[in-house]
Order: sequence, then structure tokens, then C-alpha cells
Amino acid sequence: MYSRKVIEHFTRPHNQGVIKNPSGTGMVGNPVCGDLMKIYIKVKKDKTAGEFISDIKFETLGCASAIATSSMVTDMAKGKTIDEAMKISRDSVAESLGGLPPIKMHCSNLASDALHAAIEDYRKKK
Ligand code: FES
Repeated sequence: MYSRKVIEHFTRPHNQGVIKNPSGTGMVGNPVCGDLMKIYIKVKKDKTAGEFISDIKFETLGCASAIATSSMVTDMAKGKTIDEAMKISRDSVAESLGGLPPIKMHCSNLASDALHAAIEDYRKKK
């Protein structure tokens, strides 16, 4: 039912935790299942690359797919410019995990939505 990648990221999630004094945070929830995801980002500026995500962490209260997609989205966003990170989509997170069972596709929404919310929060604070 779950791909090997989903199981790997669920059992040993990457970038789990909190960033103190983050540049932005994004929290989203799914009203149907009640799962919650919070993403913290640290943004730095580089003369050539521009603003990029130098660090990213997540806290997730949720199902195995929600934890695996949180872990994957943080891996995908780390080191990217904020414009590139805004382009990370729900589908690209699920694809990078080797797919999710159809009934679990909505779980990948939380991950990209929380990332985008953290970037929006950073932009608002600027
Ligand atoms: Fe709620 Fe997966 S069942 S996010």
C-alpha cells in the first residue's frame, strides 16, 4: 500500500523539530481528519541566488502520510530560493515519495500548503 520511500520517511523523518526565531512559520490543518502541520523556515540572502531557505523544520500531528510528506517537503525545499520553493506542488511531493495511495493524496496537500504558508508569512513580515 505504501511505497518504500513513504515508509522510510515515516519511520525516520528528516528535519523534524522547531527553529527558534524563524523567518516564517506556516500552520495548516485538515478539518476532516484533524491532522495538523507546522513548518518553520529560516531565510538567508545570497548576492547571486537571492533569498533562499537555509533551514527548515516541521512538527506534525498526523498520519503516516502526513509525516512522510512533511519530511519530503522539507528535504525538497532546503537550499531552494523562496520562489523555487513556492513552486513545490502537492503532486510533486507525492511523486517524490513514489506516490501515495489515492485515499491518502489529500495528506500531501498539508505539506505543500504549510510550506507556502511559511513563505507567505516571511514575505508579510519583511
Ligand atoms: Fe489526515 Fe493524512 S489522514 S493528513
